[in-house]
Amino acid sequence: MIYQVYPRSFADADGDGMGDLRGITSRLDHLADLGVDALWMSPFYPSPQHDAGYDVADYRDVDPRFGTLEDFDALVAAAKARGLRVVVDLVPNHTSSDHVWFQEALTAGPGSTKRERYHFRKGLGPDGEQPPNGWQSVFGGPAWTRVPDGEWYLHLFDSSQPDLNWDLPEVRQMFIDVLRFWLDRGVDGFRVDVAHGLIKESGLPDWTEAQVPITSPGAEHRTPPMWDQDGVHDIYREWRRVLDSYEGDRMMVGEAWVSPAERMARYIRPDEMHQAFNFSYLMAPWTATDQRAAIVESIEGVAPVGAVCTWVLSNHDVVRHASRLGFEAGYSTQGGIGVGDAQPDEALGLRRARAATMLMLSLPGSAYLYQGEELGLPEHTTLPDDERQDPTWFRSKHEVRGRDGCRVPVPWEAAAPSFGFGPGSAAWLPQPADWGRFAADAERGVPGSTLSLYTEALRLRRTHQLGRGVLQWGTGEGEDLVDFRNGGIRVITNFGQVPAPLPPGEVLLASGDLAADGSLPPDTTAWIRA
Ligand code: GLC
Repeated sequence: MIYQVYPRSFADADGDGMGDLRGITSRLDHLADLGVDALWMSPFYPSPQHDAGYDVADYRDVDPRFGTLEDFDALVAAAKARGLRVVVDLVPNHTSSDHVWFQEALTAGPGSTKRERYHFRKGLGPDGEQPPNGWQSVFGGPAWTRVPDGEWYLHLFDSSQPDLNWDLPEVRQMFIDVLRFWLDRGVDGFRVDVAHGLIKESGLPDWTEAQVPITSPGAEHRTPPMWDQDGVHDIYREWRRVLDSYEGDRMMVGEAWVSPAERMARYIRPDEMHQAFNFSYLMAPWTATDQRAAIVESIEGVAPVGAVCTWVLSNHDVVRHASRLGFEAGYSTQGGIGVGDAQPDEALGLRRARAATMLMLSLPGSAYLYQGEELGLPEHTTLPDDERQDPTWFRSKHEVRGRDGCRVPVPWEAAAPSFGFGPGSAAWLPQPADWGRFAADAERGVPGSTLSLYTEALRLRRTHQLGRGVLQWGTGEGEDLVDFRNGGIRVITNFGQVPAPLPPGEVLLASGDLAADGSLPPDTTAWIRA
């Protein structure tokens, strides 16, 4: 069980409105009480914060906004004292444009070796005024920006995030050193950002299609030249050797938006990463058929490489599941929700989110939680547009709202200013006025609260070793039910419109109240002693 901490929004010790490492340390008991095994922290490195820290200017330090290396060491020690492991984020696809390498590349000029660390090219057209190719940025607009001397540089994300040239041994060596730097400081592993993007097809062949969330090679469409290239695997093999040279268990989990499951499995072959995020599962529609298929395909997909399956419903890049499931008809994981958009049904969203979480927590493998989901926190779906900070909002020319709505600071104390996020009322994104009802102190120990549900589900998951289990599917699940056994637990989720009868047996936990006659209402999951 790995819990994602988004440092900007978790807890703010110094009161500047931005979370920090000392804030995280002060709230570690919450994670220990919840019963997770590890925390993964999104980037806290020096950064101009054009992409909330995924634009790293120095890979071996802590941004003063978040604290110091001493604060980091104290956090690791405090986590270990509570039996929690610590995973940090590694951003190897691109640096910040403030990174010394990019600054040197700009000064050194065209043709210089300093420029080889990135992808600089001449433009097309008589004066080179057109980008070198038609590649699009994930955040919108072209993936190229021109510098004053006329050359262009590649950035698959924001223009402040130039892509590194991984063909260069110097780039590879730099990241080996970065791995060692944090391993020596005691981290247990790395979450590898944009793991499917580091290597580009040689010659940067043209590609004019829009970016889609998940890359998959189709019969007609070859793999896009910027994603899922075979060469990335050599990098992870080399990193794995570094990790294996350290004492104890160290791990890597890849953020690779690729499908189908067999493509994803390539990232977690025995000599590469340990885990990869299962985004196909995150994006599976809320129907019994789709959920069952996503589960079966995920488990079958990793089996040939002998790896562990992973499960995730929310993170800092997608609409929180308590909100996206609150739409009767289809919903989108990407893009955000704002003023003037169709709004989710909050009660429906929360009911389904709790059912989805209990289904996820019954599955074998590793599960990832995103801060606040254990409180039932919804997306901020009415964030004023003039508060938005996600580069997606700007680069899409205000067409895509972006990811700020899932990044709003966590409410800890119902009655405190900023709901206890910090000592005062400052918060880098405004919290909805009624978020006191989701505050951790309003839910802790309260029967039926989402926090109690998560805590109890994690306890049972551990007791019954669900993470290590094997699923046995029932035969009579029909159209509306997902129904299987994992060891001693029978798991049933009702996706239908009417209550479903439950088999005999003790109901250990249910994501919502059962009907008066003991049947399982729609959008509810039950764990039954088999
Ligand atoms: C990953 C991160 C996302 C970031 C992007 C660029 O997808 O999860 O937050 O914007 O990489 O680094």
